[in-house]
Amino acid sequence: MANTGFIVWFAKVITLLICMNLKPLLVTGEQQVPCLFVMGDSLFDNGNNNNLLTAAKANYPPYGIDFPDGPTGRFTNGRNVADFLAELLGFDKYIEPFATVKGVDMFRGVNYASGAAGILDETSIHVGDRISMNRQLRNHNVTISHMSTLLGNKTLTKEYLSKCIYIDQMGNNDYINNYLLPQLYSSNHMYKPEQFASILIQQYSEQLKTLYLYGARKVVVFGKGGIGCVPSELDLYGTGDSVCINSIDSAVRKFSDKLKPMIDDLNSNLPNAKFSYINSTSIAVPDPSSIGITKLREPCCEISEGKCKHGGGVCSDRTAHYFWDGFHPSEAPNKVTAERAYTALLSTVVYPFDISQLSQL
Ligand SMILES: *[C@@H]1O[C@H](CO)[C@@H](O)[C@H](O)[C@H]1NC(C)=O
Ligand SMILES: *[C@@H]1O[C@H](CO)[C@@H](O)[C@H](O)[C@H]1NC(C)=O
Ligand SMILES: *[C@@H]1O[C@H](CO)[C@@H](O)[C@H](O)[C@H]1NC(C)=O
Repeated sequence: MANTGFIVWFAKVITLLICMNLKPLLVTGEQQVPCLFVMGDSLFDNGNNNNLLTAAKANYPPYGIDFPDGPTGRFTNGRNVADFLAELLGFDKYIEPFATVKGVDMFRGVNYASGAAGILDETSIHVGDRISMNRQLRNHNVTISHMSTLLGNKTLTKEYLSKCIYIDQMGNNDYINNYLLPQLYSSNHMYKPEQFASILIQQYSEQLKTLYLYGARKVVVFGKGGIGCVPSELDLYGTGDSVCINSIDSAVRKFSDKLKPMIDDLNSNLPNAKFSYINSTSIAVPDPSSIGITKLREPCCEISEGKCKHGGGVCSDRTAHYFWDGFHPSEAPNKVTAERAYTALLSTVVYPFDISQLSQL
């Protein structure tokens, strides 16, 4: 009896998987990979913080004003980079948050990203609850257990997971909500920028190895860019008309500069690993006015402590503002970031693969 049950389940899952792949696709044509897993912070979060006790939430208006479902927990007006990448990879639906994903939907991938999350567990503790990188990995392990149960075969699950794309965006909060807040965190007093960057990279590298051990092979790591240029940091530390704060950028660059060697190390030490680095500095729109962005510093929504004010006002032309709130880009630059990460126009942007190449490997 148990065996019959298993076979029925197995057949159901396989049928569902086939249906998902053959379903007429609404967005951009054929789905290029079976699954997309997303890890990261508020730049990728799509609702995982909605039921957490935290100030890092975006499930209220005017967030989502340009998103079909309205405010969902995405920290922008419309789609985030993970959404655009799902579209570019041919998915007909966005990847569901771990907080709500159910049953066979997890075979399309899961989004674990959480606003305020960091590489370090203590990062953003003053903001409230958040799902750190280590917790996101534990959640991924839970997903994998469910998948293995549904498929009834661990080897098959691992084979399946090796075909997925994993995108990862971490480290912003380890600066914004840790190292750059010396009044609340000891890291700044204890470590020079170079040492702190090394600590982050050492942890991050271990975390990415864990992801590999869980079956990931095609992993995209987004670098950091321009934390010293976000409106809220400028309000805190900027002077006059400065567009970026050099001391912040130089501290964060110490971290970014170590990402490429980290990728090399992972690729040469882990069999069949295909990690790739996206250089967010070089991906930044060189001439924002070419895509209609004329307001580089001023956020679009009415701000309260860096975030959009509950029910607050918004700017008249949302496509003209680079920043949506005090920290997060609006939909227009998110689209460009995703497009350039998917198809790199310059070899300096991705190392060694862009996401379209990675999907073909
Ligand atoms: C992952 O989950 C499995 C099954 O639930 C468990 O046995 C294992 O210890 C977990 N691994 C880690 C690293 O937490
Ligand atoms: C599990 O899947 C692997 C790989 O597809 C296959 O070789 C193996 O026979 C399967 N095992 C069982 C018990 O079905
Ligand atoms: C990223 O791109 C910028 C600008 O093109 C370049 O100056 C920097 O060296 C690159 N960083 C890495 C780690 O490749």
